[in-house]
Amino acid sequence: MKHFIYFSSSAATSGKALSGDLMKAGRMDIAIHSLIQGVFLSKSFREDVTFHFVFYGMPDPPKHIEIQVKDESSISKKDVASLIKKLLYKCKEGEKREIVPGCFVEKKSFLKVVEELAKKNQIFILDKKGEDLREVDIKKDCVFILGDHEGLPKKELKRLKKTATSVSIGPKTYFASQTIVIVNNELDRRNI
Ligand SMILES: C[S@@+](CC[C@H](N)C(=O)[O-])C[C@H]1O[C@@H](n2cnc3c(N)ncnc32)[C@H](O)[C@@H]1O
Repeated sequence: MKHFIYFSSSAATSGKALSGDLMKAGRMDIAIHSLIQGVFLSKSFREDVTFHFVFYGMPDPPKHIEIQVKDESSISKKDVASLIKKLLYKCKEGEKREIVPGCFVEKKSFLKVVEELAKKNQIFILDKKGEDLREVDIKKDCVFILGDHEGLPKKELKRLKKTATSVSIGPKTYFASQTIVIVNNELDRRNI
C-alpha cells in the first residue's frame, strides 16, 4: 500500500467550520485537489493508495482523516468537500470511526499518525532540499508526507527527519497537489 499524508496547520477541524467558503476553511481547496490527485485516475481510481489528512485548524484539532477509495459509487471526486465535512461531523473522541466504506476519522496527532505508519512502511518527506526522488530506492509499502501552502511544521519536521528520508521532486516549489501527481507518476513508471 502507498500512503500520502497531507498536513495542514489551518484546515478546519469541524463539519460546521467547513460550511462556508472552502478558501476560508483553512484552504480546504488545496486539500481537496491533493486528494483527487492522490486517489483518482481518469475513469478509475487507485485502489493501492490510502490518503491521510492531518488537520490542525480550529476549532477542534487535531483531526486525522483516512480515505481509501474502495468503490467509486461511495466517493465522488466531484464532491470531496461534502465527504470531508461528513467525516468531521461524525468524529468522536477516543474512537477511529469508519463513516463511509474506506473512510475513517479520529482525533490523532500528526506524529502519532506517522509513528504508526512507520511500523510497516518506508517514510519519505516531500522537501525541495531532499534527495532526488528519481535516485531513491522505494519499496511497495511507502508513505509520502507533504504540507499545505504553509509547508510542514518546523518542530515536527526536525523530529521526522531523524528517521525519514527527505525527497525532492525538482528544483521549484510546487503546489501540494502537483507533488502528488509527480510521485504517483514516478511510482507508476517503476511499477510500485
Ligand atoms: C506549496 S508547497 C509549500 C510551500 C511552503 N511555503 C514551504 O516553504 O514549505 C506544499 C508542499 O509541497 C511539497 N513540495 C513543494 N515543492 C517540492 C519539491 N520541489 N520537492 C518535494 N516536495 C515539494 C512540500 O512538502 C511542501 O510542504
